[in-house]
Amino acid sequence: MALKKIIITIDGYSSCGKSTLAKQLARELDYVYIDSGAMYRAITLYFLQNRVDWTDVAAVKAALADIHLEFVPNADKTQSDIYLNGENVELPIRDMLVADKVSEVAAIREVREFAVARQQQMGERKGIVMDGRDIGTTVFPHAELKIFMTADTAVRVERRFKELYARNKNITIQEVKENLELRDFIDSNREISPLRKAEDAIILDNSELSMDDQLRLALQWVDDVLLVQ
Ligand code: DC
Repeated sequence: MALKKIIITIDGYSSCGKSTLAKQLARELDYVYIDSGAMYRAITLYFLQNRVDWTDVAAVKAALADIHLEFVPNADKTQSDIYLNGENVELPIRDMLVADKVSEVAAIREVREFAVARQQQMGERKGIVMDGRDIGTTVFPHAELKIFMTADTAVRVERRFKELYARNKNITIQEVKENLELRDFIDSNREISPLRKAEDAIILDNSELSMDDQLRLALQWVDDVLLVQ
């Protein structure tokens, strides 16, 4: 008998390894992985490229009407790249220019409604792992398994620094730390769908866990959920 497909949500602070775990789980379970943060980043990229004044609601609405976002599977079929109006923007959305503004853009009501509606559509057939900030609270409040990830700030800064330094040798650790702390602050304190742990989410602190350890733990939770389905 085929196992029932479930929805797995992974929320948490910036750079605590949500996407790494989400990808590992998607691969193991043959699920689809969706990076919801990539949607907010792609919208921010569009706003920057087209000089959209995002303090103006009418301008935001007009811009959103022109934005088409799509996830297209890449070589690893459980993973996908995000396309903004037909263009693969997986790389430019990771730039500091976007990182500096994305929390501001993600706090806008119209932007959230736009992104959440698409995220919910993607989960209709289940068999999905989605990571973000409000996935277990707002996007899929009835998800079968909710994980809330956290890790020490110093560990998170170091991880993000290594990732960005590989692509940009001018980046400093201080710059990365300030961006991370500011984003966590804005994401946790915004009015609409702030980052918080869903009451029924399981906390996973991976400051001292290897990738294998965290995967083993999460797969155990998946088994536990499937047992009672
Ligand atoms: O996961 P990330 O760092 O790529 O996310 C980029 C930004 O998008 C992050 O600062 C907060 C925002 N975000 C959000 O508000 N809600 C989500 N579900 C995912 C990301």
